[in-house]
Amino acid sequence: MNVISIIDLKEEFEELIDSALELKISGGYKESLKGKTMGLIFEKASTRTRVSFEVAMNHLGGIALYLSPKEMQLGRGETLADTARVLSRYLDGVVIRAKRHSDVVDFAKYSSIPVINGLTDKEHPSQILADIMTVKEFKGSFNAILAYVGDGNNVCNSLLLGSAIVGLNIRVATPEGYEPDSDILSKAEEIADTTGSKILLTRNPEEAVSHADFVYTDVWVSMGQEEEMEKRLRDFKPYQINRELLSLAPHARVMHCLPAHRGQEITDEVIDSNMSIVFDQAENRLHAQKALLKRLLG
Ligand code: CP
Ligand code: NVA
Repeated sequence: MNVISIIDLKEEFEELIDSALELKISGGYKESLKGKTMGLIFEKASTRTRVSFEVAMNHLGGIALYLSPKEMQLGRGETLADTARVLSRYLDGVVIRAKRHSDVVDFAKYSSIPVINGLTDKEHPSQILADIMTVKEFKGSFNAILAYVGDGNNVCNSLLLGSAIVGLNIRVATPEGYEPDSDILSKAEEIADTTGSKILLTRNPEEAVSHADFVYTDVWVSMGQEEEMEKRLRDFKPYQINRELLSLAPHARVMHCLPAHRGQEITDEVIDSNMSIVFDQAENRLHAQKALLKRLLG
């Protein structure tokens, strides 16, 4: 089984979340993945994804190998397909963070071991597994409203799908031209029809945030978009999560996948306030991934 999109986890999503919440309490220092080796191929920077997968493997009795594409023959022109075929003979699974979503799809095509998308330009499924777990941890159920304000990016795409799968209501506020992927949106709407999740897209951050239970944002300039920085900072300015916007949702919990660009999408005051659960959310990457690794490699 591969996890390229969060949809790949649709059937076991809630079970994984409950298992992650349990592992958070029990620690999961078992030997359940003893003798297993996970490869971590990262074509872009990472703090949380890389470290939480490495530590999760360690806690479960397996090991993780960090594989920088630049130091592999991949960086000298060996094909992705041949790399996938060879690594499948050694490893029990691979996490891959790639610049292009299609590279992860291709890698999985030639792999005979589970492949987990560790972030692409299109989706970030392991992040959203932890995020939806965090919603359940703080709210006790999915009977809630999550407002996402900012860029309709990889995180937003997976969040739409994840929310639809569990029946969480989601409102997304983006500037014009920065909407989430239209195919993903249609898919999320289709799933939402069966789970009762309500999806709202708006240009108005106030409309999204008003009386929300969770307010989520992500960076305005994702990895690889640095040359668009100036335009993006201008276009997203009215979409900052600050005290004034949060006055419309005084009981909301504030989420961010991190890394944050403090002073851009979120103010210092908000991210450091008692409304913020961003570090609990970051911690939950570890627990959610343990649940996922046990499911895929156990
Ligand atoms: N949230 C997240 O994926 O962080 P990293 O880029 O540090 O892995
Ligand atoms: N949208 C961000 C998420 C980082 C975890 C990016 O792709 O850079």
